[in-house]
Amino acid sequence: MWLPKILVFSALVGVACCKQNFPPGFKFGAATAAYQVEGAWNVSDKSESIWDVFTHDHPEAIIDRSTGDVACDSYHQWQRDVEIASELGLHFYRFSIAWTRLLPNGFSNYVSEDGKEYYSNLIDALLEKGIEPVVTLYHFDLPQSLQNLGGWTNPLIANWFGEYARVAFSLYGDRVKTWLTINEPIVYCQVSYSTGIHAPGIVSPDFGSLMCSKNAVLAHAKAWRIYDEEFRQKYQGKVSLANLLFWFEPEDENEQEATDLVQQLWSGVYTHPIFSKDGGWPPELEKKLAEKSRQQGYTGSKLPPFTQEEKELVGGTYDFFGLNFYTARTARKAQAGEKVGPWPFIGAPDLDVVMSVRPDWKPQASQLFFSYPRALRLQLSWVKQQYGDIDIFILENGFVGYDADLNDQDRVNFYRDHLEQVLLSIKEDGVKVVGYTAWSMIDNYEWSDGYRSKFGLYAVDFADPQRARRPRASAQYYARVIKQHSLDVHDTNKLTDELY
Ligand code: BGC
Repeated sequence: MWLPKILVFSALVGVACCKQNFPPGFKFGAATAAYQVEGAWNVSDKSESIWDVFTHDHPEAIIDRSTGDVACDSYHQWQRDVEIASELGLHFYRFSIAWTRLLPNGFSNYVSEDGKEYYSNLIDALLEKGIEPVVTLYHFDLPQSLQNLGGWTNPLIANWFGEYARVAFSLYGDRVKTWLTINEPIVYCQVSYSTGIHAPGIVSPDFGSLMCSKNAVLAHAKAWRIYDEEFRQKYQGKVSLANLLFWFEPEDENEQEATDLVQQLWSGVYTHPIFSKDGGWPPELEKKLAEKSRQQGYTGSKLPPFTQEEKELVGGTYDFFGLNFYTARTARKAQAGEKVGPWPFIGAPDLDVVMSVRPDWKPQASQLFFSYPRALRLQLSWVKQQYGDIDIFILENGFVGYDADLNDQDRVNFYRDHLEQVLLSIKEDGVKVVGYTAWSMIDNYEWSDGYRSKFGLYAVDFADPQRARRPRASAQYYARVIKQHSLDVHDTNKLTDELY
């Protein structure tokens, strides 16, 4: 059939263009966290967090012996951060509140005026620019005063956290509509207590990590219920938690069972009790850990059980699924007598599972992170398959480099390849992905990796007292994607010449 050439052309362009478009209403943002950017560790009445104490007392635990004492100095440079969020055209900026800055005692009997004002100013400045504040209550920086009482291993932490959350909701709930209670309990419970490489530096792989896990789930639930009962009607906001999921796939077709188990130890611990219909721990994992505990001579399971009342408190405490996503691993069952590497990055000794990576997953600067973009799509489908057709908000995704180069083509490619998978997930798999967050907006303090690891869309000069921030190519790429609401942005190789 004859068609005017111009029609055929525009139809083809139309298809190409719209395939690359994000759905209307899809939100783009970028994230940071208090200890990683704020600095000002001892200004005013702020008290010490476990990271202040850990980095001061154990410089040897940090690759470059650095601390977050000054970090990006965002406590003083926050207006520049808001400007950056605006230059990028972000729909939202995700940051966290330092518990020790708002409640120096750890408890809610005393609220710091300075802390209160700092976050209030930040929130107002973002809103003035039309940028939504997305606020995390806990991103690894527990008040040391609470650590002295056992921290996350003390079941009372659920109440302490609930009280802290209530203060934050009442101060900022009129302006903050998206809240994350806790960030990545897998990291601050399992990575931390299994290895001691994170604050508080306590190694207790058998009990510490799993006690912390249970209390983290309860603390999240308490905070969600407080919002639901006392604030939801007035403020109409949404609350969830941010879970770090690694994608696991079987090393070969016989390893599905080992893979499912390790996925449940990694993710299921913090998702099954909250998002599944039945609630409680993932049943297969519960069985396996009970068996393992018996073999090790313990009288009960290392995984502390939930009471019926706790199960009900926790079940359904979400308004969306918050996903932090970086990388993947393969899994296989260990052979008889084979030594299984430490949990959580290379093995799961309790499950007798060995983890690895495939040769075609591209290593990034740090040995933790391998780029495998398709894994993001698979992970999104996994969440849908496990927990139903719920909104999924990607709250972190990013690329690590060790050099400070502004022309970060690897990072541009990483974002393009991962965003492509997000689009496929939405369009081909029908997953309800509602937003995407780049980690990180600016280079910052990468925990035990100090200032070596760089994740920023903007580079930060840590030798400069002003901590000057400069956009990388990836910032310019991301700004274009946001502006066009599409991946159909051209010529990403020349981006560094472009000024805002
Ligand atoms: C954490 C961030 C961290 C990032 C890169 C996430 O696990 O939430 O604090 O900087 O990953 O490692």
